[in-house]
Amino acid sequence: MSKPVILTGLRANNDLTIGNYFGALLPMIDMATTKSNEYQINLFVPDLHSFTTPVDHRTLHEQIMHNLRLFVASGLPLDNADIHIYRQSYIPAHSELTWILDCFTGMGEMGRMTQFKDKSSKLSEDRISVGLFNYPVLMAADILLYGASYVPVGEDQTQHLEFTRDIAARLNNQFKAEFPEGLFTVPEAVAKQHAFFGKDQGLRIKDLADPTKKMSKSDETGKGVIFLGDEPSAAAKKIMGATTDSLGSVHYDKINQPGVTNLLDMLALLQHRGVKEVASEWEGNERYGDLKKAVAAEVETFLADFQARLATISDDAILQKLETSEQVMNETARRTLLRAQQAVGLRSL
Ligand code: TRP
Repeated sequence: MSKPVILTGLRANNDLTIGNYFGALLPMIDMATTKSNEYQINLFVPDLHSFTTPVDHRTLHEQIMHNLRLFVASGLPLDNADIHIYRQSYIPAHSELTWILDCFTGMGEMGRMTQFKDKSSKLSEDRISVGLFNYPVLMAADILLYGASYVPVGEDQTQHLEFTRDIAARLNNQFKAEFPEGLFTVPEAVAKQHAFFGKDQGLRIKDLADPTKKMSKSDETGKGVIFLGDEPSAAAKKIMGATTDSLGSVHYDKINQPGVTNLLDMLALLQHRGVKEVASEWEGNERYGDLKKAVAAEVETFLADFQARLATISDDAILQKLETSEQVMNETARRTLLRAQQAVGLRSL
């Protein structure tokens, strides 16, 4: 019996922030290692998705390797046979199944996708690529090729997951005579996914300059953002310059003191302590400068340690893991692709 599959994509088109590290990377690695006994874990780099909006193609390849190194430095194990790590573009079936699914997908359906509307509204008509429009179909292929049941994704991707369920059910229904047991495995509903992965209790690190918005790797100025690759002392300076308030006394209060609250959240994460404990320690303190200094010192140590670990990561070990996984994944993906090709009449049943 094969194990149920948990699958997710590791985006790689920008340097990652400490917000990504605590909010996404660590929880994802923790999930992969704790669930790998009972589940097959597929973690892949959606490299074909990485230029649906314009990128610098001269640095893309290095960026992908760099991000994989970041994952390994954060604790992603390369020696766990139940965790597969692979690159989308090394498995041609992703592109091939996408074409087939494309022909069963409506223009209207894709045009209604919120992410497409958001991203395309920032581009002039001729810079909106067909790839951006088609993004969810490739994502559906990513998921359906491996029969994944559970797909942990952020809020902004749930609509794409719903589309994946829709298109799987649509083809299962259309080809039920040929494949009575279902051509594709339909992933679990979003509500069930949330129940499975647990409600997101993770602390969300906010932008240092504008603590009402989340710390985002695509922020244009980068002033309020700490990247994992930042010079530790420069990152400490960013903390010292963080926006606070003029109330003059520390309280854990997201609404009225978002900047101070963000500093307390960061301190708790960096010290691996509960936020309640940290907040009560600083409660009523009138010296914001001291709180900033404490966070700055922790950030500096954390980045120095992280970067030292990163420097020891071997590309050979990563490439070896990728090759092993890609070989296995190619076999699985080709089997699913063949069924789809048979269903639509490209291959004989
Ligand atoms: N679109 C996802 C994101 O932006 C990345 C992704 C691509 C993905 N294909 C996927 C995630 C398949 C889960 C499953 O984060």
